[in-house]
Amino acid sequence: MPQEEEIMAIKVSENGRLFTLQTKDSSYQMFADDKNVLLHLYYGEKIGEENLSGLIFCTDMGFAGNPEEAGPNRKYSLDTLPQEIPGSGVGDFRDDMIEIRHADGSFAADFRFDSFEILDHSYAIPGMPALYDTEEEKGETLVITMTEKASDIVLKLFYGVFEKENVITRAARLENHGETAIELEKMLSFSMDLMYENYEMIYFSGRHAMERTAERIPVQHAKVEIGSTRGTSSHHYNPAVILCEEGADETHGSCIGACLVYSGNFVAAAQKDQKNQTRFQMGIHPTNFCFHLEKGEAFDTPQAILSYSGTGLTKLSQQYHEIIREHICRGAYKHAKRPILINNWEATYFNFNEEKILKIAEQAQKLGIEMLVLDDGWFGKREDDNSGLGDWFVNEKKMNGSMAQLAEKIHKMGMKFGLWFEPEMISEDSDLYRAHPDWAFAIPGRVPNHSRNQLVLDMTREDVREYLLERLTTIVHDAKIDYVKWDMNRSVCDVYSHVAAQNRNGELYHRYVLGVYDLLERFLAACPDLLLEGCSGGGGRYDAGMMYYSPQIWCSDNTDAINRLSIQYGSSFFYPISTVGSHVSVCPNHQTGRVTPFRTRGDVALAGSFGYEMDLNKISDEEKEMVKEQVATMHTYYDLTHEGLYYRLTGLKKQDFMAWEFVAKDQSRALLTIVKTDAEGNMLPVHTKVCGLAENKLYRCSLDGEIRSGRTWNRAGLTLHQVLKEYESIRVEFTEVE
Ligand code: GLA
Repeated sequence: MPQEEEIMAIKVSENGRLFTLQTKDSSYQMFADDKNVLLHLYYGEKIGEENLSGLIFCTDMGFAGNPEEAGPNRKYSLDTLPQEIPGSGVGDFRDDMIEIRHADGSFAADFRFDSFEILDHSYAIPGMPALYDTEEEKGETLVITMTEKASDIVLKLFYGVFEKENVITRAARLENHGETAIELEKMLSFSMDLMYENYEMIYFSGRHAMERTAERIPVQHAKVEIGSTRGTSSHHYNPAVILCEEGADETHGSCIGACLVYSGNFVAAAQKDQKNQTRFQMGIHPTNFCFHLEKGEAFDTPQAILSYSGTGLTKLSQQYHEIIREHICRGAYKHAKRPILINNWEATYFNFNEEKILKIAEQAQKLGIEMLVLDDGWFGKREDDNSGLGDWFVNEKKMNGSMAQLAEKIHKMGMKFGLWFEPEMISEDSDLYRAHPDWAFAIPGRVPNHSRNQLVLDMTREDVREYLLERLTTIVHDAKIDYVKWDMNRSVCDVYSHVAAQNRNGELYHRYVLGVYDLLERFLAACPDLLLEGCSGGGGRYDAGMMYYSPQIWCSDNTDAINRLSIQYGSSFFYPISTVGSHVSVCPNHQTGRVTPFRTRGDVALAGSFGYEMDLNKISDEEKEMVKEQVATMHTYYDLTHEGLYYRLTGLKKQDFMAWEFVAKDQSRALLTIVKTDAEGNMLPVHTKVCGLAENKLYRCSLDGEIRSGRTWNRAGLTLHQVLKEYESIRVEFTEVE
């Protein structure tokens, strides 16, 4: 065990029973009571290390039974105590966290405190992404071991502490040390009972091409629950939620965030109990989940990243941006400048050949664009989306030669070259399916559900992953590909593996995700210089798990600048702006038919990893000039948009404009963008907040050259003296003056 002075963040007292996790501005406290129940005592603004178990009010509530250790004490009930690890089937009637079916058929789980250990580094989870240590900052870990009261099942609770970012992580590992096998029917990543406070939950829901719309709802006795059973984290709900005090806003109020580092089925829920305590939980969705654990086998949950802010949502988001950017995103492009790309999808869809692609590249190169991405349709028999998936062999007829030849031509123009893949899928009309029908998920005796006329590969199979790894790496190496867009275009169902034992079918959804992670890990190890952009029909897998492999993700298939405002707004609560793949496309917009100014499309796309999605040969000369200007702007502000602090200046309430701001970490400058979303006659002025400028520095505003102190700008804000028409935008820069 490391020396006391080396461990700054994890404080243990009362004979190893009181645990207080300290970050810069927050504290988290647990206590193993005299019955070895692990109580949750506090998560909030930073406090001392005094034992807070006196905050618990114990009373005989009736119909709240008592465990044997309580003896005649009717006030001690597992049904009412605030706990870290609620039991199941043994007297806590609230939602449980772990459900176990034992060999005798009984359902019971009752975990009690056994021991603890402290590590002076962060913890890894086998086969899954998790926050990692860097040279600049190492996490600390508290491992608490709990034992199940009547069986040989051991539960290890992992608490990681990242002090600077006010982050505490949770994950758990369940080990079966008993002689008989058990069925694990539910196991979440965390549960906690918050004693006081009326909370509201902010969550992000949506649909394909309209992801992550922020919604807010009070937490009452009726459960507030979101989740996905689609095999991916999904367009429909994002695996990240905020519990905040009533009325909390960007700059006020206490907020607890929870973000799952996972890309599969998940659930997040909050509910008040009979004592008005809020049980808050998150983890793998229990639907279609059952892990068979023989003696010696273990199950690990994904990691949940918790973070606390006592001063509103902006601070909470900035903490998440920092932790994800520094301790989740990896690889060559973690901080390296991302190339401005042009993607041919909306320019050509499937209707392209080598000549068309080269023309798009040539024009793009002249305008300063740095990478050509060839999207769907370059392989197998793939003239539409009904066939060819799985046949990852270049269609040399369509491409007029090999991929290496095309890549060489693009590289000779001084551009990088990227390629689209959808590795996890298979078309029935493909050579791969004809050779290996058993590689697709399908339940014997049932016709599987089709979606985009494609089936899902059984990513739990080693041979499937080997095939994909060989295909991907061969093409990337042969053609010297610089970038891969890793797509995934349907929800997962009809799961059945022809190689897994039948009593292991409940493991397949999770093992699918583990298979995807394994392939990604091995692929990136073989191609370490690659920039990987995640995608799942846009933002269907826009989660912290995927960000471990792909530092940018195509945030939505919707490229409409006005819809993107809401999608990018919702995405910004947890995910760094550098992870948002965002492109300028043509108008009328292909998804919505809306017409917006070219400039606005650029300003919105600049709040992300920037690119184009159009045939640049088909735009006017004036628009070409604007492309050049946007490219230059992107370079000017790259450090702000990718590494700076992000502020949402407008909120959930409907307003007639949206505004946001990036501030350099050294507060030397800031970029503020305003987009007019609605217009009326006799237009009211746009007055916006300004945030994050250094109080004592002087800043010049690019609008009118006014020089004021950061303190004044931060408090008085900014009024536009020009009228913005509907969908028009404006960028305002603040520059420090000596
Ligand atoms: C998905 C992606 C798009 C495009 C198509 C190609 O929908 O999100 O950007 O790559 O697939 O089929």
